[in-house]
Amino acid sequence: MRAITTAVASGKGGSGKTTFSINLACSLAKIGKKVLIFDADVGTANVHIAFRKKITKTLIDVIEGTTEIEETVQELAPNIDLISGGSGYTDFIDLGIDKIHLTIRAFAALEGIYDHLIIDLPAGISELVVEIMKASDNNFIIGNNDPSSVADAFALLKVLRSHQEKMNIIFTPNKVETLAEAKTLYQKINSLSEKYINLSLRFLGGITATKDYDHSWATGIPCSWEETTSKASAEFRSIAKGLEQPADSLISGVRFVL
Ligand SMILES: Nc1ncnc2c1ncn2[C@@H]1O[C@H](COP(=O)(O)OP(=O)(O)OP(=O)(O)O)[C@@H](O)[C@H]1O
Ligand SMILES: [Mg+2]
Repeated sequence: MRAITTAVASGKGGSGKTTFSINLACSLAKIGKKVLIFDADVGTANVHIAFRKKITKTLIDVIEGTTEIEETVQELAPNIDLISGGSGYTDFIDLGIDKIHLTIRAFAALEGIYDHLIIDLPAGISELVVEIMKASDNNFIIGNNDPSSVADAFALLKVLRSHQEKMNIIFTPNKVETLAEAKTLYQKINSLSEKYINLSLRFLGGITATKDYDHSWATGIPCSWEETTSKASAEFRSIAKGLEQPADSLISGVRFVL
């Protein structure tokens, strides 16, 4: 079976993409799925920090042609591996479309190993973000309930829509007080999207605010939530379940195949 590929984006920075990507990976890993996280925040990658791991070889080495993609894979936790975009660089952020496509195609060397590829994207709108989202089965846009987050998410949607008529986009409110608030925020952005750019968004649930996520970052122990009882666990389990029933593929060009 081919891996299900899922990109995690947002218009605005700090909305919770990396926290979401990691916790989604944990949720899938805990039900026995083999997950690869691709930290595509090239130059300022930080997924490894959440697990207190040092990165050695990164995507930059693959792009520079000094290493093969297989050699950049690092184990983070049981059932969770990482390919890092590298940190401490600024020169590589603008990779250009050829290198982006080369990167996407390079994942084919990992065919047959993983059930899920989760791609943590940088904030904002760039060629890298757009091309990776076009190449992924599922695309989460993580938004918070504040006007600038909504405006930036909508700006990203408009750019995506200008590149491709149909896309599988899942709008996911984060840091909300209640799941009812999450649903209302989704409805707001979905109606804007349907009205102005003729694009319907999916909803698989939201993530409520809790200091537990800050605590996880501070202690370097992600996935620490109690599997069966915590609210965070239930929220991520529900979203993970939704991913297991993916919508029809809407990818028409270069795609991740692994
Ligand atoms: N549901 C939540 N409740 C409370 N805090 C949260 C939640 N989700 C994320 N956070 C916190 O928000 C901060 C930013 O999270 P994170 O680094 O995941 O955002 P990001 O979108 O990846 O940022 P960047 O755009 O810089 O990559 C972190 O301190 C994290 O602990
Ligand atoms: Mg991040």
